[in-house]
Amino acid sequence: MSDIKAIAHPNFALIKYWGKSDVTNNLPDMSSISITIDTLFSTAKVSFDSSLKKDLWVLNDIEQESLGQIKPTMNYLKSFKLVKDFCVIESTNNFPTAAGLASSASGVASIVIAINELFNLNLSEQELINAAILGSGSAPRSLYPGFVYLNKKKYSCKTVLHANTWPLKIIICQTSSDKKLVSSRDGMRISKLTSPHYESWVNNQDNDIRKALKAIKIKDFDLLGEVSEGNCKKMHRVMETSKPPLFYRNTTSHLCIQKIEEMRANGINLFYTIDAGPQVKIICKAQHADQVISEMKSIPNIQDIIEVNIGQGARLTNEG
Ligand code: DP6
Repeated sequence: MSDIKAIAHPNFALIKYWGKSDVTNNLPDMSSISITIDTLFSTAKVSFDSSLKKDLWVLNDIEQESLGQIKPTMNYLKSFKLVKDFCVIESTNNFPTAAGLASSASGVASIVIAINELFNLNLSEQELINAAILGSGSAPRSLYPGFVYLNKKKYSCKTVLHANTWPLKIIICQTSSDKKLVSSRDGMRISKLTSPHYESWVNNQDNDIRKALKAIKIKDFDLLGEVSEGNCKKMHRVMETSKPPLFYRNTTSHLCIQKIEEMRANGINLFYTIDAGPQVKIICKAQHADQVISEMKSIPNIQDIIEVNIGQGARLTNEG
């Protein structure tokens, strides 16, 4: 059989997931809302290889010692069918891995779609979500296009607004390409155990979810910005009050935030979000994108500025 290839894009959470209710099954402690982007992507090329004694995962041309984070996903997918041959999974990212740009979400989502096809599983949407969540709690969101809601109740996931209905721009300000020092997985465990703000963070999440869903439904940019930035700040407060403290933002991220506040004071509609890494993602109306980019370029030490759109969900591809 020939190779099967799938592609998936990262997603950036506006209302964030930080903490698990069940570590074994990798279940998020809270609902989340994200936007799937375009331009940045992960691919997964999968094929059977009868010479192999176990499944092999090659990430960005480097053979991995084990299946690592994707092992539970593979075990789940294999539980649907007896598959005798082992397979090789070749993953690539066209952007820095493990640097706060959601490479695990797009990576896992692309693998789920490719393996579903290779094994001929015909899984339901919920089964694809279950498979993805086992690999990364944010990965189900990359299966879907546009604005995506991952509901903690039953872990359902769906698009709440499609990309073309509200064409916002996302400006990614890359302040470093270093791998994060503490993985999201470890960071979440530390925060849940030690941050005095963890409980209120979880308890307030549904309020933010409700506000964001409303803002998306009525396309209220200011309301979405207010609730998203507030949620991002709360997550970083939980991170930074953990023991040891988790500082994912760097000096350049803070300079970016200052510049964003300055632009906002000057009447530009924009807001930002930052994940477990120092990259600053700005969401703005399309007509302001050029100005935002030129202002952000003035910040010292910015490595790269990438303008992207809201994008499509994970899918099979013939490209490459
Ligand atoms: C800060 O989904 O990478 O980006 O489930 O342990 O693989 P695991 O974590 P992951 O965490 C994402 C955390 C975040 C916020 C978010 O995307 O919701």
